[in-house]
Amino acid sequence: MQKRKLGQGLEVSALSLGAMGYGKARELPDRAEMITLLRTAVDRGMDFFDTAEVYGPWTNELMVGEALAPVRDKVKIATKFGWNIDQATGVHLGGVNSKPGQIRSAVEGSLKRLRTDHIDLLYQHRVDPEVPMEDVAGVVKDLIGEGKVLWFGLSEAGAGSIRQAHAVQPVAALQSEYSLWTREPEAEIIPTIEELGIGLVPFSPLGKGFLTGKIDATTELDAMRSSIPRFAPDALAANQRLVELIRAIGARHNATPAQVALAWLLAQKPWIVPLFGTRKLERFDENIGSLDVRLTTEDLSDIEAAKVKIEGARYPEEHMKLVGL
Ligand SMILES: NC(=O)c1ccc[n+]([C@@H]2O[C@H](COP(=O)([O-])OP(=O)(O)OC[C@H]3O[C@@H](n4cnc5c(N)ncnc54)[C@H](OP(=O)(O)O)[C@@H]3O)[C@@H](O)[C@H]2O)c1
Repeated sequence: MQKRKLGQGLEVSALSLGAMGYGKARELPDRAEMITLLRTAVDRGMDFFDTAEVYGPWTNELMVGEALAPVRDKVKIATKFGWNIDQATGVHLGGVNSKPGQIRSAVEGSLKRLRTDHIDLLYQHRVDPEVPMEDVAGVVKDLIGEGKVLWFGLSEAGAGSIRQAHAVQPVAALQSEYSLWTREPEAEIIPTIEELGIGLVPFSPLGKGFLTGKIDATTELDAMRSSIPRFAPDALAANQRLVELIRAIGARHNATPAQVALAWLLAQKPWIVPLFGTRKLERFDENIGSLDVRLTTEDLSDIEAAKVKIEGARYPEEHMKLVGL
């Protein structure tokens, strides 16, 4: 699989697989099947995998750890701290927590659950307004000094927080939502990370499935999607215009909408590594097929010219308060 470089030199496969859907975040799929899928992804040449303490909490890291232990030296594992997880019970107490003691304890737990002595890329999952970014970056810097963490990342942080953290410990990657229907990072975040030499790992590159063209007003949505304004019936119907557009672009390349959505991200910057999720091998293969889809200047300008307006926010109101801080 093609490689890309993030930040100061973290080299990874040009696409990454997220394991969030393999656990409590959505309905619990078959554990053995998911472990097989992760290992098959490695066989296909992917070497960059994503999890987080909060997925489960903990169960997802346990699954990823088990799956990747036999191939640990071939892969890069990214995980995240930053939600207020009770370190004794694994219960999410609500809200965020990036206090230095919490970060250290979360990392010790992640190392055990992931069956490893180092985390390749450690992200702060959400900015904690109670803890200065300099303090967060300072703890991660120490963890890097101790060899427990190799690279530092942030997720959904605002430009000011990115600059503050980066001044203490260089940030290798920002993991934030960016896709054909979430273009907000283009205003301030992408110019900031480009200036600082930080890579981008866009999550939900398939719009949580919407951009694949497989979701419409008749689809029965899970609780997570039902809570998102842009998945409300009226918004979903209006937003189909974007799917029609990418379907038409895909027809020029014999590519599916999912492949166009990923190829569009890959075409934006050479330091973007899209992070998709799937529980199905045939979809994994379809998605990595995007690496062979080269969108032309005309394709890209046709997408801009269509000026498709997206209806509905990308998160419920409560969650929107936690992003861009
Ligand atoms: N940092 C953060 O705050 C944050 C937030 C959200 C996600 N993430 C990370 O990003 C990863 C990806 O996020 P995501 O799952 O929301 O993103 P996504 O890749 O945009 O969407 C995944 C959804 O699309 C479906 N899908 C995937 N490929 C498909 C295809 N070819 N055709 C039809 N449907 C397809 C999947 O269903 P099936 O599983 O049934 O195939 C799944 O429901 C997560 O696993 C997680 O690691 C991070």
